[in-house]
Amino acid sequence: PMIYYPLSTLMLAGIRDVLIITTPGDKGLFFKLLGDGSKFGINIEFSIQENPTGLPEAFIIGEKFIGDSDACLILGDNIFHSDTFVNKYLIPSFERKIPTVFGYHVSDPERYGVVEFDKDLNVLSIEEKPTTPKSNYAITGLYVFDKKAPSIAKDLTPSARGETEIVDILNFYLKENNLKVELLGRGVSWLDTGTHGSLHEASSYIEVLENRQGLKIACIEEIAFQKGYISKEQLLT
Ligand code: G1P
Repeated sequence: PMIYYPLSTLMLAGIRDVLIITTPGDKGLFFKLLGDGSKFGINIEFSIQENPTGLPEAFIIGEKFIGDSDACLILGDNIFHSDTFVNKYLIPSFERKIPTVFGYHVSDPERYGVVEFDKDLNVLSIEEKPTTPKSNYAITGLYVFDKKAPSIAKDLTPSARGETEIVDILNFYLKENNLKVELLGRGVSWLDTGTHGSLHEASSYIEVLENRQGLKIACIEEIAFQKGYISKEQLLT
């Protein structure tokens, strides 16, 4: 299932408390699949977003869950695959204590949040789905924010497409000079599955690698076992 991919990224980074925000209609399906997470040695809770009013609402819905900690949001249609991503990029971003997002070179930046840099890699602008992108660097759907995120989210106003925008949170941090945009190297694969075409491409990518290697990608049961969260007996049941 698609949800295994973002979940595996979080689990590999050692995150064991996860809030899944979903629609009223889909909550039951996710619960049937994942339960409370105990079979994977993690804690999973569920909340509902009644209407698609924008990604920043995740931080408002999740405010209580986040409490006093830093929070990481990953979009359910994002796949990160690389044997360096978690250790080289994600975990250091938690340790740095500076809000961080990741830039990734893509052929179709107009589909994403786009970041523009100067020659010293200082961020000049971040725009959501610009018709004329200022660079080829998309912002991935993985956001490492601090505990201010819920209060920033509450003050946002909807954009022309009628939703609050996650890039407005990024621009808030940027204005405070408190945002790191880290560029991911070529060895990292970032795929999204938000369109039929991209879902098809992601499926082919996973199928080719799994068939070639004889290893599973994003097997959360295996990750739980390797991390010592569950026993061999639990793995086999
Ligand atoms: C969202 C964000 C966008 C980001 C993208 C990554 O877009 O708004 O900034 O680049 O996720 O997947 P959406 O997929 O909701 O269109």
